[in-house]
Amino acid sequence: MRLFLDTANIGHIRHGVELGIISGVTTNPSLVSKEGKVNYQKLVKEICSIVPGPVSTEVLSQDAHGMIAEAREIAKWAGNIVVKIPANLEGVKATSVLCKENIKVNFTLCFSLNQALLGAAAGAAFISPFVGRLDDIGEDGMKVVVDIVQFLDYYQLPAQVIAASIRHTQHCIMAAKAGAHIATVPYKVLLQMIQHPLTDIGVKRFIQDWEKVMGDQKVIGSMKNNRLVGS
Ligand code: G3P
Repeated sequence: MRLFLDTANIGHIRHGVELGIISGVTTNPSLVSKEGKVNYQKLVKEICSIVPGPVSTEVLSQDAHGMIAEAREIAKWAGNIVVKIPANLEGVKATSVLCKENIKVNFTLCFSLNQALLGAAAGAAFISPFVGRLDDIGEDGMKVVVDIVQFLDYYQLPAQVIAASIRHTQHCIMAAKAGAHIATVPYKVLLQMIQHPLTDIGVKRFIQDWEKVMGDQKVIGSMKNNRLVGS
């Protein structure tokens, strides 16, 4: 499962990319608004220049005609742009047209297998089930991810599932087990994924044990001809 960052924050995106583990970014109008009143095009272009993979950015139009017009413009901004289109009837119509023009679509705000079926039929490259928002209303968000993954696999369809609306690290584990191609995670969750108290305790103990015997001898300082002195 690949990891995308679900944010429009440049600092967080740079950090994720520096770590070498982030291969894409997803944004939406709410996430962009969190960054203040920015120049949208400039921000998206900057994100696209940092990220070594797909960058999803959303249209605001409500009708297919407007969505298509917006998507055509947005698609010119960078080679790695993916246009987010909502999983409603107008969105299906727009997705069908855009995919025939080789504009990559992320079929977003997807909450059911039926919506995913139509998105895949229209040619969407990515389908984004929103796990957390389904959990919020007492449904099993991850079950929808499992169902969509199985459906795409069964019919050998090329669309990739992006597990979205990820709220915590358990969601990441469950998305990986469900076979999601991608999980798009908030920066905070990404940082939490690596944390384990036993790792921190282990590192501390290794250093204490070393220092008890070796004093302040450093590994690099004690290297000669690529060999540890005394090894
Ligand atoms: O990837 C979709 C995501 O941005 C929505 O997350 O937490 O607003 O449901 P959330």
